[in-house]
Formats: sequence, C-alpha cells, structure tokens
Amino acid sequence: MKFENTLGFAQKLDGQDPLRNYRNQFYFPKVDGKEVIYFTGNSLGLQPKRAQKFVDEVMTDWKELAVEGHFHSDKPWWDYHERLAAPLAKVVGAKTEEVSVMNTLTVNLHLLMVTFYRPTAKRYKIICEEKAFPSDQYMLQSQVRNHGLDPDDALVEVKKREGENFWRTEDVLQKINEVGDELALVLIGGVNYYNGQVFDMETITQAGKAVGANVGWDLAHGAGNIELKLHDWDADFAAWCSYKYMNSGPGNASGVFIHERHLNKKDIPRLEGWWGTKKETRFLMKPEFEPMANADAWQLSNPPVLSLAPYLASLEMFEEVGMEALIEKRDRIVAYLEFVLHEIDKETDKATFEIITPKDRGTQLSVFLHGQGKSLFDYLMKNGVITDWREPNVIRLAPAPFYCSYEDMYRFGQILKKGIQTV
Ligand SMILES: Cc1ncc(COP(=O)(O)O)c(C=O)c1O
Repeated sequence: MKFENTLGFAQKLDGQDPLRNYRNQFYFPKVDGKEVIYFTGNSLGLQPKRAQKFVDEVMTDWKELAVEGHFHSDKPWWDYHERLAAPLAKVVGAKTEEVSVMNTLTVNLHLLMVTFYRPTAKRYKIICEEKAFPSDQYMLQSQVRNHGLDPDDALVEVKKREGENFWRTEDVLQKINEVGDELALVLIGGVNYYNGQVFDMETITQAGKAVGANVGWDLAHGAGNIELKLHDWDADFAAWCSYKYMNSGPGNASGVFIHERHLNKKDIPRLEGWWGTKKETRFLMKPEFEPMANADAWQLSNPPVLSLAPYLASLEMFEEVGMEALIEKRDRIVAYLEFVLHEIDKETDKATFEIITPKDRGTQLSVFLHGQGKSLFDYLMKNGVITDWREPNVIRLAPAPFYCSYEDMYRFGQILKKGIQTV
C-alpha cells in the first residue's frame, strides 16, 4: 500500500482498522485537556477500562465473604491464577500446562535459574547479549557468583559488530558453537529493550540445544508484541512481565513458560512452596512436596489475587482479539510510523534522527536523535507525545496496536516537525 502523510489518509486507515473500537476501551492520560499520543506501551501499557470491574469484584468478595472468598467467590481465589494460563498460553505459543503466573519478572528468572542453570566444573558458561537489560545482568552476575564462579569468566556476551546497531544471528550461533561443551545456558532478551530487535529465537534455541545447553528467553518485550511459539521452538523456559504490551498494571505479575518435558518431575532442582504442591492434597498440610503436574509446580505462595484481577481483564481482551489480528495491525501501523518519520526527515533540512531498529522488529522503533536530543524529547512530552528517553540519545516509539491510531502517527509527525524547527 502506498502511504500518504496526510490527516485524511491516516483517518482512512483508522476507518479500515478492525481493532478501531478497542481504542475506546482504554483510558488515555491527557495533556492540556487532550488525549496523549501514547508510545510507551513497551514500558507500561494503558489501563483497560474493564480492569476496574475485575478488581472491584475481588474487593467486593473480600468485603462480603472474607476468608470464604478463597473457595466460595465466583472466581475462587485459591486457584484464581489458573484462569490466566489458557489465554496466556495462546499469547506465547505454549500448552496451557506449560504456563503459570506468579511473582515478578526478575524474581521468576532467579527461580528458573535454580532449575535451568546447573553449572558443573566443565559446563558452566552462560551466553547472553551484550548490554542486556540491567536487571538481567544483575540477575545473571549474582547467580553466577552464588555458584562460586566469576562473572567475567562465566558470562559470555554476544556483541554487535563495530558500526552496527543490531546483533547478527550468525554471531550468536558462532558464539554458541565456540563455547560448545562449556555452555550451560543461553539466556537472551527475545526482543531487545533498547533497539527493538527480535532475535531469531527458533534458530538460536536449536543451536543452544544442539551443544547440550539449556535455552531460556526473557520476553518482557516479546509477550503480547510478537508471534511466539515457545513450545514448538523447544525452549526450556521463558519469563515475561505483564505491565508492558499485556496491559496488566504497574509492576504486575510475571508469566513463566516451562517446557512440558520438565513438568511433573519430583526430582528436578527447584525452589518450592505450598502453592506448587498438588491441589488435591495441599490442605492436608503434609510435609512431602507433591509437585503440581504443570508449571504451577514453580509457584511458591498463594496468588496475589488483587493484582491478577486486572491481568485477567486484559487477557480477556487478548482472547477476543487474538495475536494474529494484533500483529497484522502492528505491522501496518509501525510501517506507517516509519513512513511518517521518513517524510518528516525529508521535510526538515537538518539530519536530526535515525531509526536504529532492524527489520526484524515488533512494534518498537528506536530513534537515535542527533543534535537536538533531549530538548526535542522534552518538546514532545510537553506537547502530548509520551515516549521515553534512553541514554545516550534514543527515544523509543512503540505504537501498541490495541489502542494507538494511524491518526496518532500522523499527529505525532506534525508535532515532531514543529519540534525540530523550534527547539
Ligand atoms: C527486558 C527486561 N528484563 C527485565 C525487566 C525487569 O522487570 P521486573 O522489574 O518486573 O523484574 C524489565 C523491565 O522493564 C525488562 O524490560
């Protein structure tokens, strides 16, 4: 399709958008009385209007039933988390039993490392991407030290090539083969938080497994954004947060995937708690741990129902729409945003920005600002464009297909142009 950088054309695309009615199902913050153009669904997704109802339901049950709510509310709390597994499994391409919701992302990665990072004298190295999200770096370093190893030796980073802004799959594969039988684990952010790159997870997973390593993925920027086939790709594990593209609310619970070949095992190394033991016998309060047959075996505590409620509300929307429709709109709206950016670049005389996101991408375009940098970012924020700033000079634009419109992209272009001309 040939795009045009006009309001009429953007509105025409909105008119053809099968998801257009979902925009009204989210709350938008306002600047100067006008709804913002929201580009930070990759950081904190907007609040779905129906989330309130799900939270109120729990509050009412608590008020009216107190402890009886565990078993006698409409959605009993003791197995509330189970309602999230089936819709979430579809989002990440897993079997329902391979998915659970618990804790938060970094906590879950630590828990999963207990199971999937079992260093031996020979096989103890971990491959990750250079400049992984800081929490992942701290998590990996502390795990390695916890095993009495030196992060400088045990952590092997795949670097981008000199002068390039993205990782090459062949470089990841080469590193995997180089480390070979010393490799215990590959753990990479499947969609990079900084440049928006989508890694070739299938190929990398296969390569890691071929040398005998475990392979896990941090999908903080992947879940709800890109097509995932965790089961078919044969990943050992994955974890993601829910407050970005999954629109579940600030700091909300994390999802985990554990491949079915690791399920229903009593002798697997794992940190355990009472919510991981079999439901049927849990309240017999026996000292023996009988693992749940699914990924819930990794659950430690009884579920934080108040925070799972908005996540469940959001998942209901993913069920209605499906990842296929979201991805179809994503591809078109991101292509339109890219087109608008190029048009604005042509219309302004200074070379002010550069898209550093490679073609393997989801909804995020990372834009390197030359020259005006922070002052242009401040101008955008003051004028109702919510984006974020990443050092040294990058803004990230992630038009979430659930609620961003083509008109937003056009209006953003106009504000950007004015910003370039005035700051
Ligand atoms: C790629 C990535 N990994 C890990 C985290 C940490 O998440 P949490 O604070 O929920 O542990 C984030 C948070 O934004 C992230 O983007």
